Amino acid sequence: MQITLDTKSYAAVETEALVTYVFEEGEPIQGRVADIDAALGGLLKKLAAGGEINGKALEFTLVHAPAGLKAARLLLVGAGKRDAFNGATLRKLAGAALRFLKARSVKNLAFLVREGGATAEAAQWLAEGLITANFETDKYKSEKKNGKEIDAVTILGFGEPEKASGEKGLVVGRTVAEAQNFTRDLVNEPSNKLTPRILAEKAEAMAKEAGLAVEILDEKKIADLKMGALLSVAQGSVEPPRMIVVTYTPATAKPGAPVIGLVGKAVTFDTGGISIKPADGMEKMKYDMAGGATMLGAIRALAALKPQVKVICVVPATENMPGGKAQKPGDIQTAMSGKTIEVLNTDAEGRLILADAITYAKQLGVTHIVDAATLTGAIVVALANINVGVFGSNQEFTDKLLASAKAAGEKMWQLPMDDEYREFIKGSFADIQNIGSGKGGGSITGAWFIREFAGDTPWIHLDIAGTAWNDDAKPWLAKGPTGVALRTLVHLVQTF
Ligand code: BES
Ligand code: ZN
Ligand code: ZN
Repeated sequence: MQITLDTKSYAAVETEALVTYVFEEGEPIQGRVADIDAALGGLLKKLAAGGEINGKALEFTLVHAPAGLKAARLLLVGAGKRDAFNGATLRKLAGAALRFLKARSVKNLAFLVREGGATAEAAQWLAEGLITANFETDKYKSEKKNGKEIDAVTILGFGEPEKASGEKGLVVGRTVAEAQNFTRDLVNEPSNKLTPRILAEKAEAMAKEAGLAVEILDEKKIADLKMGALLSVAQGSVEPPRMIVVTYTPATAKPGAPVIGLVGKAVTFDTGGISIKPADGMEKMKYDMAGGATMLGAIRALAALKPQVKVICVVPATENMPGGKAQKPGDIQTAMSGKTIEVLNTDAEGRLILADAITYAKQLGVTHIVDAATLTGAIVVALANINVGVFGSNQEFTDKLLASAKAAGEKMWQLPMDDEYREFIKGSFADIQNIGSGKGGGSITGAWFIREFAGDTPWIHLDIAGTAWNDDAKPWLAKGPTGVALRTLVHLVQTF
């Protein structure tokens, strides 16, 4: 999909649909929309007076053959209250408009930014909203969305003085959104088409294309490095594990500068192992590699955006299967760090593979760690599918991430990590056990387990189990993988 910025007047642009937005307020037809309305002979004000246009979030009004415009259609989208309007709103309404028109076989559209809104950020948000909205999960369907595709979008409302910064914003937005779609494409793959080995190959291809350094550790190297926690999960499957390492090095790296580790859980299918999951809904566990896919997508975007910080992405990839060689409840494993782990539930496997990935990342020299994982069902109980669960060992670092989430328009919520919770995973027969002893707080005990391996290195854990997958399509996003947290991570690194 081509996106260009044009300084032409909206009235003069030939397009299948001119899209703009109205706010929910006494008179929604104001400013540029009032100008359009004048050309239309007051039709919009009439509709507003009749209660048909309120400006409520994602309310659509479609006018065919609008008088005075070269556009074939005019689409007004409700933007909600003006004082609550932000990047996330703009992104969603642009995405929703694209999907609305796509469903009506429209091939190209022009999006008019409202008066005072022609900024680099707005252009970035629009590109993000449009490109992520255009992504479909019909890769394996013979009939694609009726062959419906949006080919071109023109962004209007920018004058000559704002054009250059708007175009810069477009490039950033495109980079981030395409990385997010790369992540979503990986997450959407079923486990028979995305084994740990295939994920490693795809990561390698991405890294080469993006100009990033890449190293794939195979099962032999993993065993040489004594990654006993990762191996314990992998041993139940005939598919061998992989440890994927992708590195971004800035052109000017000062010695002693911080190095950010992006560690992502990539269980390409989680059956639960011997502590097997119920059949109902198990198919969704193909998305249990979303954390890893998010980190790979983030570093792909960073390769293009070229921040001044070194980033090492570490992705442990494995299946969690109940094979004849699978680990069993009660087994004791020795992690790469030397800590012994009592595996009380083989379904709490994400934390095991993250333990070794974090130890390895520290060995590679990271000074700050963020991990992302579809770690617990408990986070869905706590925060539903609305907020990412955030856990941290260093408040200053965690505050930075939360600020980035806000700036990137992603909902994230910090949960407590009091020392008392640490007691829940104290081992009876080993140093540590992989589940809490039946006292609730499942997401927190999971986080504490991972934290044990981060040690003194400032660390943040993002539990994306509730937010990495949309069970239902949204007006602005297809059903399935969301690519959540990628934008926040990119913002965090860029502003670090
Ligand atoms: N991949 C799951 C987490 C998950 C569960 C994601 C449901 C999305 C929906 C993880 O490996 C897991 O199974 N966690 C267990 C931990 C428990 C055994 C302590 C869980 O949450 O049930
Ligand atoms: Zn599990
Ligand atoms: Zn899992």
